[in-house]
Amino acid sequence: MRNPIIAALDVPSVEQALQLAEQIAPAVGAFKIGKELFVTAGPDIVKRIRATGASVFLDLKFHDIPNTVAKAVTAAVQLDVQMLTVHTSGGFEMLKAAEKAAEDAAWKLGRIPPLVLGVTVLTSLDTAALREIGFDVNVEYQVRRLATVAMKAGLRGLVCSPQEVVKLRQTIPPAMQLVTPGIRTGAEKADDQKRTLTPKEAIQAGANWLVIGRPIYAAENPRAAAEKILESLN
Ligand code: C5P
Repeated sequence: MRNPIIAALDVPSVEQALQLAEQIAPAVGAFKIGKELFVTAGPDIVKRIRATGASVFLDLKFHDIPNTVAKAVTAAVQLDVQMLTVHTSGGFEMLKAAEKAAEDAAWKLGRIPPLVLGVTVLTSLDTAALREIGFDVNVEYQVRRLATVAMKAGLRGLVCSPQEVVKLRQTIPPAMQLVTPGIRTGAEKADDQKRTLTPKEAIQAGANWLVIGRPIYAAENPRAAAEKILESLN
């Protein structure tokens, strides 16, 4: 089985990101570049991580009109990322345009299209917060609804919280890739992730990929931490 660990490079500088990536590369399957690092370091950080041979998950959570998102996805494909995120609440046409742009741009370059991952309901929102912005539904229902729109639009993957994996697996096709953050081993200090699963539990629940940040980068020895997580999966 391929290595399902996606290490989040949630560090504030290019130097720290490259150093961390080099240190843990043999123990992880891919690197996630999020908003902080991308805004600080620019597209060059993607190129530099790709130059090491590692796969990149560009987590910028695009949400805009279909034409704009399609162009952003095309630009991401040109950067040669293997995964990227869009907000499913952008709607069917936006999601379809994102998937089409990923496929078209990749074929033009002779590459495999990146996995366009749909983000459903942000884990920072609860049912009360949804009501406040005009959605009179519970979170679980909204997640299922957005996942269905994403599937219909042709997306091949979703980002979801560990708690949603089991239920989502019952409603989506087995080929749909599920990527989940909120992973904790139990060894690290308590932080802002409240509802977590261990790496093994998340895989057993049906996740294909695990996004892991602090348990690796904030560990005393990030390489050893990543290796331990990988071993725990076998
Ligand atoms: O440090 P930690 O393991 O909590 O990092 C998780 C990563 O996944 C971070 O980059 C965070 O932004 C991202 N993420 C998350 N929860 C979500 C979506 C993304 O923690 N619902």
